[in-house]
Amino acid sequence: MTKEPVIYVDGHYKPLSQANISILDQGFLLGDAVFDVVSAWKGKIFKLEEHIERFSDSLKATCLNTSLSDKDWSDAIKETLVKNNYQDASIRFIATRGVSNEVIADPRNNKPTEIIWAAPYVFLANEKDRKRGIRLMISHLRGFSPDTLDPRYKCVDRLHYQLAKIEALDAGYDDLIWLDQHGHVAEGPASNIFVVKNNIIYTPSEGVLRGITRQTFIELAEREGYEVQLCNISSFDLFTADEVFTTSTAGGALAVREVSGRKIASPVPGSITNKLDKRYWEMRDKGEYCTEIIYKN
Ligand SMILES: Cc1ncc(COP(=O)(O)O)c(C=O)c1O
Repeated sequence: MTKEPVIYVDGHYKPLSQANISILDQGFLLGDAVFDVVSAWKGKIFKLEEHIERFSDSLKATCLNTSLSDKDWSDAIKETLVKNNYQDASIRFIATRGVSNEVIADPRNNKPTEIIWAAPYVFLANEKDRKRGIRLMISHLRGFSPDTLDPRYKCVDRLHYQLAKIEALDAGYDDLIWLDQHGHVAEGPASNIFVVKNNIIYTPSEGVLRGITRQTFIELAEREGYEVQLCNISSFDLFTADEVFTTSTAGGALAVREVSGRKIASPVPGSITNKLDKRYWEMRDKGEYCTEIIYKN
């Protein structure tokens, strides 16, 4: 019999079948919750501090005062990995607005619910698509505008992400990208985007989640001597790019071979995508920016 995954819920480590939250939790009723996802590879968590800092900013911005300090979150994440004995894992940590018995509740009064869920490491695409690149659709839905909900909030409320995904999958695409309110390329539901043209690397400057992998690839590109520009990108730039790739905690770089029916003209994955992704995995193998997990046996 396979062992049940262990989940952290409000101070307790429980088998998945017993790790419940109330149906009156505002996270469930209203999508009132924030989260982050960090990954472990070969027993080492990558950029844990950076993920905790981004999560902490999401908590502050949403007025969620959890009972856990940043260090407590870090310790509980590590302990969740140890209890599951996962070496390669994706770890999602979530804080919701908590339970209220009122039908119309004052969001200021609840005690947040705290959850940590570790699962075996996931890649955004299967092995075949990681080799040959994915087909991206430009969604008809736009990303949130910063005057509605700044995309830097890593919030659980992802209905429009789901709708965009259904649209893309129904149309036979692997994933999607959306534009912002001004028609500039923004990001996908779980990844940031990069364009390479004439050896210069471009990525949107605004209206996107500050992806930890995005920042890592900017750093790696600069280390390799490439010029990186954070600027507005339009679909024109995607259609005329030498290379397009996405970045995420779920796999590093993922080459794109087609955008809304337009094939990337150069061979995919492109040489810069390949080089930077190789550097990314070398960085992880070497343990740079990593927190090593001490397993119990
Ligand atoms: C909307 C969005 N953009 C970008 C990313 C990529 O961020 P990271 O590199 O930190 O995984 C994510 C990750 O889930 C995301 O949800």
